[in-house]
Amino acid sequence: MEKCYLIWTLCLFSLALIPGEALSIEDEPFRESVIIFNTICAKCHEAQCSGRLSFSNSYQASIDHIVRHYDSASEKKWLQKELFTILNHMKEKCAYYPVPLNVPPNRIWGTETLEKKTTLRERNYFIPIGPFTPGHYNLEIELAKDAKITMHIISETFELVIEDCYQTSGQRLVIPFFIEETENYYLRVYPRIPVQITQLAISTTTQK
Ligand code: HEC
Repeated sequence: MEKCYLIWTLCLFSLALIPGEALSIEDEPFRESVIIFNTICAKCHEAQCSGRLSFSNSYQASIDHIVRHYDSASEKKWLQKELFTILNHMKEKCAYYPVPLNVPPNRIWGTETLEKKTTLRERNYFIPIGPFTPGHYNLEIELAKDAKITMHIISETFELVIEDCYQTSGQRLVIPFFIEETENYYLRVYPRIPVQITQLAISTTTQK
């Protein structure tokens, strides 16, 4: 009980620290920047665990670099800052920036939830799919149109379970996968052309 109070007090305190202006620009801090970082910046900075923080004076110098890799950040100071913070988190903690898992109990994600896990321009997705215990699973996605897509399933300790390119057909794709370690996992999607995922479902299977 005491622990609960402490957590609540900490939450309220940190909310009080967020300036009102920042809230009106981006109502859920770090939602968009985490997806951008974990899809676009991940190609070079994922699992970059030096243990040291970037010098704060490298922030100004980093902005050009950040904008070069993500030009939509050019007018968005808050996005540049958040991306810088996320990289430092990765380097220091050797972990993904913490995000709410929000895994639906039946492991079926609808369009509305999925829209919060994507970059609208590229339609890259980064979706926490939650904890899995060892076993066989099926991942099924439905899309707005057929496309070639690259999919990764990656653990919180950066072990890739799946890393492949697929052609969907009938606006669907089913991929069996096998989990060896009990951990949190993430799904990352890079479509060749921007395409919306309308449903994601993960089920257990007994198939070997
Ligand atoms: C093609 C590879 C590549 C991509 C993609 C990339 N970076 Fe980098 N980044 C580098 C390299 C190489 C360095 C310099 C060496 C280092 O510090 O790791 C660097 C350095 C940085 C630094 C300065 C680090 C320091 O210690 O001062 C920041 C901040 C940064 N990147 C952020 C980002 C962000 C945010 C993105 C995504 C928008 C991104 N990078 C995308 C390769 C990349």
